[in-house]
Amino acid sequence: MAASAGDDMIMAPKKQEKREGIPRLMSAPLAIEWVGDIDGFVRLIDQTRLPSELVQIDCRDAATIWEAIKMLRVRGAPAIGITAAMGLVVGARTHESRDGLREHIHQVADYLRTSRPTAVNLFWALDRMERVADACEAETMPHEQTLALLLMEAKRIRDEDREMCIAIGQHGKELLANDSGVLTHCNTGALATADYGTALSVIFHAHEAKKNIVAYVDETRPLLQGSRLTAWELQQRGVPATLICDNMAATVMRQGRVQAVIVGADRIAANGDTANKIGTYGLAVLAKAHGIPFYVAAPSSTFDFELADGSGIPIEERDSREVTHPLGLAIAPDDVAVYNPAFDVTPAELVAAFVTEQGVIRAPYVENLAALRKDSA
Ligand code: MRU
Repeated sequence: MAASAGDDMIMAPKKQEKREGIPRLMSAPLAIEWVGDIDGFVRLIDQTRLPSELVQIDCRDAATIWEAIKMLRVRGAPAIGITAAMGLVVGARTHESRDGLREHIHQVADYLRTSRPTAVNLFWALDRMERVADACEAETMPHEQTLALLLMEAKRIRDEDREMCIAIGQHGKELLANDSGVLTHCNTGALATADYGTALSVIFHAHEAKKNIVAYVDETRPLLQGSRLTAWELQQRGVPATLICDNMAATVMRQGRVQAVIVGADRIAANGDTANKIGTYGLAVLAKAHGIPFYVAAPSSTFDFELADGSGIPIEERDSREVTHPLGLAIAPDDVAVYNPAFDVTPAELVAAFVTEQGVIRAPYVENLAALRKDSA
């Protein structure tokens, strides 16, 4: 059924299925799908409605894509990049001739870039798409062929992300001990990527390998990605999960329940400084205080080698109502001053290792992460 933007499609969870020969780790629909051929559209799980409703929305123009990214209907750094790449295709289509197509594509890309500032995957994916548009223009490619190549590139970005997430899970599972507790923050699973996830892929793969892992899931205030999304994904996959409020992390560490912390990232500077969901930095400090390794799992598309360190990472500040009105309920007095940064930066020295699709990378980071740069697109 092809619902249009804003129309709801409430889905019954599907049975576990195989896609492109690799079994999926969860049975819900993919977070992002391209439906149809070049005239098709982007279908997203509306993550603001989870876990109470599994609803998909269809996006047929760039404005709907922009709103979906801005409002966190789709979120998580890799998922934002994939959605923007596909959004560029639906946005490019409104220009109906070859003349001026490249300029139009650049305008749509610039517009999509304004949706959210921190996750570098958004900019990385749009840069890739624009390089395809430029190459098509240089070869005076017909309009239809340019659109077809753009769609191919968007799907390639999605497929590569999926493969990177699998590799991250396979490399990272070796870091998790049998019979251990692993604390994670925000949502880094299939919902945040093409499939499987980054930090959650590590936990999924460790669980698949029959390691006895309990995931401690931070609630992740203010938007509750941990309780609404991560706890849901872990339950779907049958991984033992214990939900905690963010301010309980120190206590569960001190009680010896946690042997590793693993998180994702939105942007990692060349020296390893890591921007991720607000609260990540505090966890890294706590992990250090308790002698617990703190790992960051991310694909090469999340590294920003243009930035020498984390001081240049733009940190998104979001609407104060996210703090004062969680899930629409007023929990603070009217007009109270609010500070709502969506991300923080964890200094590289607090990171025990990065788990990437190329393997586990340890300090010294400036030297060792540079190898990733050569291999990244
Ligand atoms: O604001 P969000 O929900 O987009 O923030 C997401 C995160 O911080 C994730 O940890 C990060 O993007 C990694 S997702 C694999």
